[in-house]
Amino acid sequence: MKSKNLPKGLRVMQDPTLNKGTAFSEAERDALGLRGLVPPHVQTIDDQVQRFLITYQKRSTDLERYIDLSSLQDRNETLYYHVVTRFIEQMMPIIYTPTVGLACQQFGQIFRRSHGMYISERERGHVAKVLQNWPRKDIRVIVVTDGERILGLGDLGANGMGIPIGKLALYTACAGIHPTQCLPVLIDVGTNNQSLLDDPLYLGVRQRRSTGEAYDALVDEFITAAAEVFPKALIQFEDFANHNAFRYLQKYRDRVRTFNDDIQGTASVALAGIYSALRVTGKSLRDQRFLFFGAGEAGTGVGELMVMALMAEGLTEQEAIQRCWFIDSKGLVVKSRTDLKENKLHFAQDHAPLKETLAIIEAFKPTALIGASGQPGTFSRQVLEAVTRLNERPIIFALSNPTSKAECTAAQAYEWSGGKAVFASGSPFHPVEFNGKRYVPGQGNNAYIFPGIGLGVIAAGSRLVTDEMFLTAARTLANLVTETDLAQGRIYPPLSQIRNVSLAIAVAVARVAQQRGLAEEALPDDFLGTIRAMMYRPEYVSLV
Ligand code: NAI
Repeated sequence: MKSKNLPKGLRVMQDPTLNKGTAFSEAERDALGLRGLVPPHVQTIDDQVQRFLITYQKRSTDLERYIDLSSLQDRNETLYYHVVTRFIEQMMPIIYTPTVGLACQQFGQIFRRSHGMYISERERGHVAKVLQNWPRKDIRVIVVTDGERILGLGDLGANGMGIPIGKLALYTACAGIHPTQCLPVLIDVGTNNQSLLDDPLYLGVRQRRSTGEAYDALVDEFITAAAEVFPKALIQFEDFANHNAFRYLQKYRDRVRTFNDDIQGTASVALAGIYSALRVTGKSLRDQRFLFFGAGEAGTGVGELMVMALMAEGLTEQEAIQRCWFIDSKGLVVKSRTDLKENKLHFAQDHAPLKETLAIIEAFKPTALIGASGQPGTFSRQVLEAVTRLNERPIIFALSNPTSKAECTAAQAYEWSGGKAVFASGSPFHPVEFNGKRYVPGQGNNAYIFPGIGLGVIAAGSRLVTDEMFLTAARTLANLVTETDLAQGRIYPPLSQIRNVSLAIAVAVARVAQQRGLAEEALPDDFLGTIRAMMYRPEYVSLV
């Protein structure tokens, strides 16, 4: 923006996308009418980072740190993204899981300033007009939730807005999607969470969730309106309850540029972890038997991509399905059950019903346990000991979020497997000392995948988002894990590498889009250079 088009004085300071606080240069102070409105000494962004950290580091709780960061985002986006990008390993657990879970639970209490858009039934019939109220027109990524299944915390209604805000912050920090091109959306159809309905500070529509036709019609109107008002936007579904998540993915995936991160993003990051884990165990994918705990969005999402990966290794679909057994709240997912929904039916095994986990382990002899049940303690000592007896190096993924919901902790995984487990979790765990050795647990964080997918889809202008893109992303991510990472027990690259990871995934995804005839943008041959140049860097640029 040229200075003649910029707001002046206080207005420029109040716009978080333009504000530089004490870092406005002398020339900007003159041209933008800022003289006298800021202290005389001009600071650098590094000075400002130091100042921010002084208070931040004194905070005694992560929620306070979350509030500090949100307030910074409200005031000065460049500085916010500069801090988050520079200290991504420390900041990601604050702006995303696990702290974002707590922030959502207390959303009504910590709310300061509105971010994103709320679409409720009051907007029915004119959603497109409402979306036009958004001040930015070139939106490239929308993350939308209806708040019904926030992490493993259940129905948080409008409080779920913390999730799209957090995910979009990661799109910017991890893949350089410009913050002004991101739009968080909450579809508010009420909540069945009585304690929220009774809470005087609750900010959402105070009614029980509407369901059925009324709900579908609102979602449908939103998707149609979003595609019309923001035709270049990718729409990411996030934290919908599974009865809606699968339906909507099927309904929209061939019509608009959309994906469901809980189903497809989780699948990709888990598969990448498996590829890396196999380098540690020295076994091949073809020989694995995966026992899934939880046959919901995350579990069967991983299962579907695993089937695709196994088929790419030469197995038939039937053989691949036989390598993926699922346990849900009612026991083993088998054909004789009459309560199975479509996503589970695909994995129903021809086997006698079994309920007991140990009996299932005995029957199936898994090489890997994948936890996506939201049930802490599911990987008990007995379970881990049983699977360790069967495998020299068992693969143990406790993916449930937040930390309190993980199937086991990192320390339990290493201790109960006698240090043999190749372990990853959904939420971060600190490194563990066991028998004099230091283990660095992997974090199967979707943030390794979705920002890169988004960047690739946007760069290529891909009309659709396909499963092949998630398979490619998994392979690309796994290839970035070095021998040094593996030697420390890390099956994902360090988070400090995240921007390079996202770039590599984006290049691979854009290539798939191009090969499949989905790309609407013509990319020059130098994909890497072109996409890298598109990435937003959180540094001050001169406004004059
Ligand atoms: P969901 O509600 O769709 O599925 C949960 C499944 O767990 C259901 O099939 C249910 O029957 C099953 N279950 C319940 N109790 C069980 C038990 N005792 N043993 C085995 N299965 C049991 O939920 P969704 O979306 O699949 O999420 C599950 C968990 O995975 C959540 O904690 C979520 O935060 C986590 N997740 C982690 C991700 C990551 O780490 N990258 C990404 C997405 C989800």
